[in-house]
Amino acid sequence: MLDSSPRREGNSWALAQALGKGAEEAGHTVDFVRLSDFVRSPLDDCRECRLSDGSCGITDDYERLLFDHVLPADAIVYATPLHWYGMTGRLKSFLDRFFCYTSASSPHTAEVVPGLMHKRAAVLISCEESYRGATLGLEAQFQELTRYLRQDLAGIVVGVGNSRGEVERDPARPLEAAADLGRRLGDAHVTDYRLDTDRPNRVWGPPVEV
Ligand SMILES: Cc1cc2nc3c(=O)[nH]c(=O)nc-3n(C[C@H](O)[C@H](O)[C@H](O)COP(=O)(O)O)c2cc1C
Repeated sequence: MLDSSPRREGNSWALAQALGKGAEEAGHTVDFVRLSDFVRSPLDDCRECRLSDGSCGITDDYERLLFDHVLPADAIVYATPLHWYGMTGRLKSFLDRFFCYTSASSPHTAEVVPGLMHKRAAVLISCEESYRGATLGLEAQFQELTRYLRQDLAGIVVGVGNSRGEVERDPARPLEAAADLGRRLGDAHVTDYRLDTDRPNRVWGPPVEV
């Protein structure tokens, strides 16, 4: 679970905690990290900072985050406040720097490329503005980037609030939605068809008898 807010224990953190609680209830182990503890530099020009063996020369804890926390996980939860109608710069840097480990020149490509793919993903967004358009661009971006990474985007929860922890008072109850997503994340059924996809005519299987 990646909390990308610069604010400690803020609204995106609250959403992440709720999702984590739901995931634990479903029997999963939750690994919660703050990106600011690991990612201190944006992507730079690889031609200038790449080391002679092709590995990334940026000296922060990104590599530790990637290898010890991200690659071993079955699911990634991206938690971000809305900043200028997008994700935080820190989260963008985290994503940008995948490049340094997946490009042909990296000695880690064979491990990192398959390690990033075929995970479940969830997105948690906290923001001040409640109108639908505020988060649409970011939601579309996550849809595309998880598709590119072959991650299954199981759900997006948006919580509205501004002062610390205020998201709890959002009448749409995003903390409950996040907890529910956490409970379902392990086996969430994600459908993404093409015209020729072989599929049954029901999405959720046969009706359950009560
Ligand atoms: C630099 C910055 C930019 C922001 N841009 C937006 C924005 O475009 N739209 C919005 O609704 N809220 C915006 N906000 C408000 C935050 O998204 C909101 O306060 C959020 O709940 C903070 O979450 P956090 O406590 O996890 O940091 C911005 C806040 C900051 C600090």
